[in-house]
Amino acid sequence: MPKPIMMPYKTHAIMCCGKSCGENLPLLNYLKKKVVEEGLIVGDPNAVRVNRAGCLGVCTEGPIMVVYPEGVWYCHLDQAAIDRIVEEHFKGGKVVDEFCFHGPIG
Ligand code: FES
Repeated sequence: MPKPIMMPYKTHAIMCCGKSCGENLPLLNYLKKKVVEEGLIVGDPNAVRVNRAGCLGVCTEGPIMVVYPEGVWYCHLDQAAIDRIVEEHFKGGKVVDEFCFHGPIG
């Protein structure tokens, strides 16, 4: 049985788009656009894969995004927060503590 082909990426960003967080598709689309504008696409060493999720279970502080491979969770997202996360985390490799509320232990 053939396996699917997946293009390589460094970071997987999964944003909630559930009802309790305001069905924030515009913010998800902003993130997708920003990633492309910054060149974080297939072929770039910092390529980012963006996916939407339903509720991630912490709606009171949403919108929420979880980022792998670090397992970092971000809250209270808006366009300014996305700009910083793209620049500092996705491009610079440094978690943005101001919006991070959960991460790997240790
Ligand atoms: S709808 Fe966003 S975490 Fe629940």
